Amino acid sequence: MDAHLELPPSPWVQRWIGLIRPGGAVLDVACGSGRHARLLASFEVDAVDRQPALFAHPPRGVVLLGADIEDGPWPYAGRRFDGIVVTNYLHRTLLPTLVDSLEPGGILLYETFARGNERFGKPSNPAFLLAPGELLEMVRGRLQVVAYEDLVVDHPRPAAVQRVCARQERVAS
Ligand SMILES: C[S@@+](CC[C@H](N)C(=O)[O-])C[C@H]1O[C@@H](n2cnc3c(N)ncnc32)[C@H](O)[C@@H]1O
Repeated sequence: MDAHLELPPSPWVQRWIGLIRPGGAVLDVACGSGRHARLLASFEVDAVDRQPALFAHPPRGVVLLGADIEDGPWPYAGRRFDGIVVTNYLHRTLLPTLVDSLEPGGILLYETFARGNERFGKPSNPAFLLAPGELLEMVRGRLQVVAYEDLVVDHPRPAAVQRVCARQERVAS
């Protein structure tokens, strides 16, 4: 079993979850064991992972989908979400799709590993580690940045991470 399966919800997600429209539609991308989909139970949650079996017994209200979001088509084409949560997962070319999948006012909560994480363990492959400032650059000019951090955290385990909370400012048409 992977170590991430044992992790509690990310403090970053917990901190900013209140910005998501109450009861709105939320997508947990690469949800793994569903630690955030469970946290988001008061929303209408879609959760996707290529290994859906990792997410045992999704609670009522969570729609779990097994899909490869790197090699397959985007399974939520035409859908819009009030919140999108991505943690400990990086597929750079997916970012524009995520931005386009936000409702006006929708919130992106993204947290994943950054360079420097090698000293704490995996991931250590540079392909899976954000370069300095990279997450901020990925959303700059596309979303309004509410908060951004690039730091070493101690909880739930030592890791070098970048994390952003950003809002889709697009006006509804
Ligand atoms: C490190 S885990 C993070 C899980 C969860 N987001 C969390 O923070 O607890 C990365 C997850 O990405 C999923 N994943 C990796 N490649 C994927 C792909 N191509 N399509 C869908 N999910 C993928 C894995 O199955 C795994 O559950």
